[in-house]
Amino acid sequence: MAARKIKWGILGPGWIARKFCAGLKVVDDAEIFAVGSRNIDNAKKFAGEFNAKKAYGSYEELVKDPDVDVIYVATPHILHFEHTLLCLDNGKHVLCEKPFAMNGKEVRGMIAKAKEKNLFLMEAMWSKFLPNVIKAKGIIDSGEIGKVKLLTAYFSVKSDYPLEHRQFNKDLGGGSLLDIGIYNVFLSLFLLGKPESFKAIAGMGVTDVDFSIGILFKYKDEALSVLFSSFIAASDVVAEVHGETGKIVFEHLWFCPGNIKIVRPNGEVIPVPLQFKGNGYNYEAEEVVKCIKEGKTQSEIMSWGNSLELIDMLDSIRKEAGIIYPKHDL
Ligand SMILES: NC(=O)c1ccc[n+]([C@@H]2O[C@H](COP(=O)([O-])OP(=O)(O)OC[C@H]3O[C@@H](n4cnc5c(N)ncnc54)[C@H](OP(=O)(O)O)[C@@H]3O)[C@@H](O)[C@H]2O)c1
Repeated sequence: MAARKIKWGILGPGWIARKFCAGLKVVDDAEIFAVGSRNIDNAKKFAGEFNAKKAYGSYEELVKDPDVDVIYVATPHILHFEHTLLCLDNGKHVLCEKPFAMNGKEVRGMIAKAKEKNLFLMEAMWSKFLPNVIKAKGIIDSGEIGKVKLLTAYFSVKSDYPLEHRQFNKDLGGGSLLDIGIYNVFLSLFLLGKPESFKAIAGMGVTDVDFSIGILFKYKDEALSVLFSSFIAASDVVAEVHGETGKIVFEHLWFCPGNIKIVRPNGEVIPVPLQFKGNGYNYEAEEVVKCIKEGKTQSEIMSWGNSLELIDMLDSIRKEAGIIYPKHDL
C-alpha cells in the first residue's frame, strides 16, 4: 500500500513560498495540496505553477479545508504570530518562516497554542538542516580544528527594493537583523552556543529600521563571533570558523547548500565531501513530514527550545541596538 501523503497548504504565496514549494516537490510522501492568498488570482496562479488542487482567496478558507494537514506560513514576519495561531486554532500543523515571530512573547504564545492543541509546530530555519552546516558542527564538536577562537559570518546584500518593501518598511517588520542577520546569530548559537556577553550597533536608516547591524559575541576565554548583516552594502556572504589547528571555510552564500573546506595553519586545504539533493528547502520539509507521521509536536533538530534561544537573543540584540517595533513591544 502506498504511504499516506502529507497534504500541505501554502499561506502567503510570495517569493519564499515559491522556493519552498520547488523544494517540497522532491519530498517523499508530501503533496502541495492547497494555496491561500489574500487575492484569489494570486492563489490560482501559484496553484497552477505547483499543481495544487485547491486555490483560496483568503487565509481563513485555506485553514478550514479539512483535507489540509500542515500549513507553511510564508507571510511577512509581523504576521507570523497571527497566522500561526489561525492555523493551529483550526487544527493544522504549522511550519512557519523565520523569524518565528517578532519577539519572544509571540513565540511563547505560539508554542503554548501548539501544546494546547497537540499540533506540530516548527520554525523554518532551513539552514539547520543543510549538510554543510550539519557537517561543520560535527567537525567542530569532534575537535578536528581544535578550540574555536573566532567565528565570522556575513550576510550583506544591496537591496534594490523600494523603501515600502518589507525589507525596509517598519510596519512590516523591516530591517536586516530579523530578515538576514538572524542567520548569523543562528550560526553562532548553533556552532558555539550561547555567548557570555555581546555588543551590537545598528545603522538605523531613514525608515527607522536597521539597514545594517554589527554584532559581537564574547565566548569563554578569548573567543569571539563577529556577525554583520546589511541591506545597503553587498559583501561576500561567507562564514569562517577559526580553530587552533585549522579553520572551516563556508563558500559564498554560506546559509545555502554549498561547499565547505578545512584550511590548516600551514595553508593545506582539505575539501569536505558533501552530497546535496533538491534546492535545500526539501530538508526542513522532510523533517516536518517525518515528525507529523511520528505524531510529534516538535522537531528535535529545530526544537521549540532552539527557537526560543534564537528569538530571546534577537530580542536582547534589539534592546542593545535600539531597534524598536512599537506594535511588537519587547
Ligand atoms: N527561509 C528563507 O530562505 C527565506 C527567504 C526569504 C524570506 N523568508 C521569510 O519569509 C517571509 C516572507 O518573505 P517573502 O520574501 O516571501 O515576502 P513577500 O514575497 O514580500 O510576501 C509573502 C506573501 O505574504 C503575503 N502577505 C500577507 N500580508 C502581506 C502584507 N501586508 N504585505 C505584503 N505581503 C503580505 C502576500 O501573499 P498574498 O497577497 O498572495 O496573500 C505575499 O506574497 C519573511 O518572514 C521572511 O523572513 C525566508
